[in-house]
Amino acid sequence: MTDRPIPVPPTPARVELNPALASSVESSSLWDRISTWAAAHKAIVYTIAGVTVVATAAGVYYYVSETRGVTNEPESSAASKKKAKKDRRKAKKGAEEAEQQPPEESREGGNTCARNNVDMLIGRVEPKKATATDVSEEELPEVTEDSVQLLSEQERKDYAAKLKAAGNKAYGQKEYQQAIELYSQAILCKQDPVFYSNRAACWNALKQWDKVVEDTTAAINLDENYVKALNRRANAYEELSRFSEALLDYTASCIIDSFRNEQSAQSVERLLKKVAETKGRAILASKEKKLPSPTFVANYLQSFRPKPLPEGLEETAELDENTGKGQLQKGLLAMGRRTSEGYAEAAQSFDKALSLGDLGEHEAFGYNMRGTFRYLKGDNDDALADLSKSIELQPSLTQSYIKRASMHLELGDREAAANDFELAMQQNDSDPDIFYHRAQLHFILGEYDSAASDYQRSIDLDRDFIFSHIQLGVTQYKLGSIASSMATFRRCIKNFDKVPDVYNYYGELLLDQQKYQEAIEKFDIAVEMEKASKSHAMNVLPLINKALALFQWKQDFPEAEKLCKKALIIDPECDIAVATMAQLLLQQGKVTEALRYFEQAAELSRTEGEIVNALSYAEATRTQLEVQEKYPKLAERLKGMGGPMPGMM
Ligand SMILES: *[C@@H]1O[C@H](CO)[C@@H](O)[C@H](O)[C@H]1NC(C)=O
Repeated sequence: MTDRPIPVPPTPARVELNPALASSVESSSLWDRISTWAAAHKAIVYTIAGVTVVATAAGVYYYVSETRGVTNEPESSAASKKKAKKDRRKAKKGAEEAEQQPPEESREGGNTCARNNVDMLIGRVEPKKATATDVSEEELPEVTEDSVQLLSEQERKDYAAKLKAAGNKAYGQKEYQQAIELYSQAILCKQDPVFYSNRAACWNALKQWDKVVEDTTAAINLDENYVKALNRRANAYEELSRFSEALLDYTASCIIDSFRNEQSAQSVERLLKKVAETKGRAILASKEKKLPSPTFVANYLQSFRPKPLPEGLEETAELDENTGKGQLQKGLLAMGRRTSEGYAEAAQSFDKALSLGDLGEHEAFGYNMRGTFRYLKGDNDDALADLSKSIELQPSLTQSYIKRASMHLELGDREAAANDFELAMQQNDSDPDIFYHRAQLHFILGEYDSAASDYQRSIDLDRDFIFSHIQLGVTQYKLGSIASSMATFRRCIKNFDKVPDVYNYYGELLLDQQKYQEAIEKFDIAVEMEKASKSHAMNVLPLINKALALFQWKQDFPEAEKLCKKALIIDPECDIAVATMAQLLLQQGKVTEALRYFEQAAELSRTEGEIVNALSYAEATRTQLEVQEKYPKLAERLKGMGGPMPGMM
């Protein structure tokens, strides 16, 4: 047996919008892709106890293996049934309510007591009213630090029990200060984790979060498996905005509970998001705005049909570099090189062109280009302003509407995006680019029928643009028409036999159908074609796809890693390659190394959404490492308890 899981067969419809084709959704599609892949493979973040955590674009999900609930704990089946019932009830409650839990009787508390707690927990019974048989205040001993020294062992025990009972009663009557006083005296008599935890519950009710942390920490120091105290401390940390610490506590609590408590699991998910968002915003604020990898830029730019350089800016036109037009021309030529340096130079030239001004009839085009590169750098506000200016100057330049639509979409404004397509159509309803990009919008929204008809219209207006065909094939696949999809791709290969992208995406669909051999053949052809192409920097996607295929097919980690590394040598900033690498490492239980790659992926990401996604993985991974470090016994115990996952070797 090894520690590594065998990936489950990928779910159908793994194929997402091809990143290379998704102009308007470039950002989300990358992570969709990685996440879908991760989900399909149950990429493991928490490897202990046979529990699987998968981060997805929509959040973090738990995939608990079939060993769920099967532990070596000496629990009778009746007890586990009761526990399961209790957990189900617990799960129904809101997070805030959970913190209104009544004090506990004891850690080993008898069944009745546990039952009462549960009933009170869900608000079925009122806290017991004081009766004549209850401990009355008069009988209570008054314990101080000095007086406790004079008590015998037995007296201390008795006093502690009485004080605790009185404390619980006071708590039930919402007399928190009094309860705190009573628990404090009980603690003087006996160092009991329950007393600390109960006093913490009082501080909790008073919203004294620092005090909650103090007391729960004391409780946990006395009993490191004290789930209730851990959860209570986690909640206090969260209130104090100490999200990483809250995340760690919830994670530990989940592990102790073998992930049977849904509420804690949801808390982990919530905290992961908070931590990732907080850190993500910090990264974004300090990040210098720079272009993403050339693979990304090239893919975005080629989602528009190639057009000849505007009249007067052709390569042959001799222009002065110190003029706006000269810089515009320089930028366009640099862009054509399709390399990292070329794109950087282009961005700079377009900036210069506009500051030099005097662009004449090319002014709208100049704004369009500067806006495009600002968008690529993740500077959405300025990009949007540039595109709007371009539209204002020359509404007939429909491409500006299309680009502005993708920016709106990336910012989550679907209506504005749809509106821009409408306006573009009013300018020119026979521009095939408009239909292609509107199809992309439909595709993202899952409106595959509309997407297919828009791709088809784009093809009808211009058959020569390969990506309309490829994307139509992918959409047909999504619609479940596998046969027409495959036919579309075979036609593509016939008509565009020199385009590597065709083989790459055909391969993806074959891979999705688990036709590994055929898929790899296609990826190999794409790789060879990319290598042979002298005109531009190599697109590394086929290499990464081949890595995924080898991993899925043969669990060939070494070869998959080699391919990813190759991709990273060619395009060191390719975040897809980095994220794939991280997943491969994680699958092999190389958690520390995986973490480094996830962090790098976050650094390379362009938008807040991408960064947060990368960081969710990173934080989940980091938390696992921290649990191992801070709770070695726990990690050890659970490792033994989890055992191999079904289907593992
Ligand atoms: C509309 O777009 C097509 C394709 O780009 C172009 O050939 C045509 O000249 C455009 N029509 C107008 C009126 O701009």
